[in-house]
Amino acid sequence: MSFVDIKKVNKYYDSFHILKDLSLSINKGEFIVFLGPSGSGKSTLLRVIAGLEQIKSGSVILDGEDITTKAPYKRNVSMVFQSYALYPHMNVEKNISYGLKNLGVPKEEINKRVSDVADMLEIKNYLNRKPQALSGGQRQRVAIGRAVVHEPKLFLFDEPLSNLDAKLRIKMRYEIKKLHTSLKITSIYVTHDQIEAMTMGDKILLINEGKVMQYGTPEELYNHPVNIFVADFIGSPSMNMFETFIKDDTLQTKCESIKIKLKNCESIKNKNIILGIRGEHLSINKHNTEKDLSFNLKVDMLENLGAHAYMYLEIPSSKDPINVRIDSRDKKRVNIGEYTNIYVDANSIYLFDKETEMFIGFLEEFI
Ligand SMILES: Nc1ncnc2c1ncn2[C@@H]1O[C@H](COP(=O)(O)OP(=O)(O)OP(=O)(O)O)[C@@H](O)[C@H]1O
Ligand SMILES: [Mg+2]
Repeated sequence: MSFVDIKKVNKYYDSFHILKDLSLSINKGEFIVFLGPSGSGKSTLLRVIAGLEQIKSGSVILDGEDITTKAPYKRNVSMVFQSYALYPHMNVEKNISYGLKNLGVPKEEINKRVSDVADMLEIKNYLNRKPQALSGGQRQRVAIGRAVVHEPKLFLFDEPLSNLDAKLRIKMRYEIKKLHTSLKITSIYVTHDQIEAMTMGDKILLINEGKVMQYGTPEELYNHPVNIFVADFIGSPSMNMFETFIKDDTLQTKCESIKIKLKNCESIKNKNIILGIRGEHLSINKHNTEKDLSFNLKVDMLENLGAHAYMYLEIPSSKDPINVRIDSRDKKRVNIGEYTNIYVDANSIYLFDKETEMFIGFLEEFI
């Protein structure tokens, strides 16, 4: 049995069906990220686990115990919110210790735990300050300290870094992961930032409209997306997608110059297919594989990111340009407004069924 088992949870707000038959299992000690667009149900699912929301059907099991109807404060679960939710009139020390005092933990034990947590999170020098005298990063550290001090079975984070500037987010992201490595408390972390999800999660649960799109390691979601939604959501810039059609045994786009002869294509004959390629699998250099395909396209725009650059190229008959990642040193080889050859290894071209939006296979399997 898993450490956390969410079984077929259905949640409504009035007549709005928010979580739809949602199931998921989490192993002890894992760091799980809930990822999805705004309004997809991430916070609602987290609040269901915390006991802050009632559900219509389904169950929540924690460490073998059914906690579906258990009061939040009896669940042994600690939550950290985006808004920090610190008590403004209490100093840092009291903010951290308040919950323990209410639970009747002996004074010496409280002092020890607060001191350990303050050491670990490097907030010892602020213990006497009130929250308004702290920076955003320091406040978030106090909020984390307040959760850690309870020594919970499960940690829940709801977008804890959203109010911080970009640099501090990266630092705190690192600290939260380090904290998890040392404490090994099973954690669930909600974000809509896919970089955060990819860098922090042992596994990612990608949700859309209250349904699980895919649950797996960051590598699985990135390299083996099960449908168009996952392929498009994970990766920045997004995976390039073109609409194509398989007529007889030829895959063709609306653009006359792109036609690929297929074999073994009985199962996908006469279908509309979405072809997906990530920018890093396209190159201005040959891949030197037998199945290298090449296209001649016009350069629309260049975006420099330091170590590498993105080149955007016009695709005849498509309103969206395609992105190609190039080494910064290759930038001088391409000029905006000119045509250039683009090479792609057929091993890295994904095929999706336009109708069902499901992944069919890699193009290489069909040529
Ligand atoms: N108290 C409520 N009453 C009615 N509808 C609600 C309530 N809380 C949330 N919702 C709706 O439920 C859906 C899911 O909301 P939720 O807060 O879980 O999304 P989210 O994935 O956390 O989004 P975000 O990334 O913006 O925080 C949204 O459509 C939202 O409008
Ligand atoms: Mg939310």
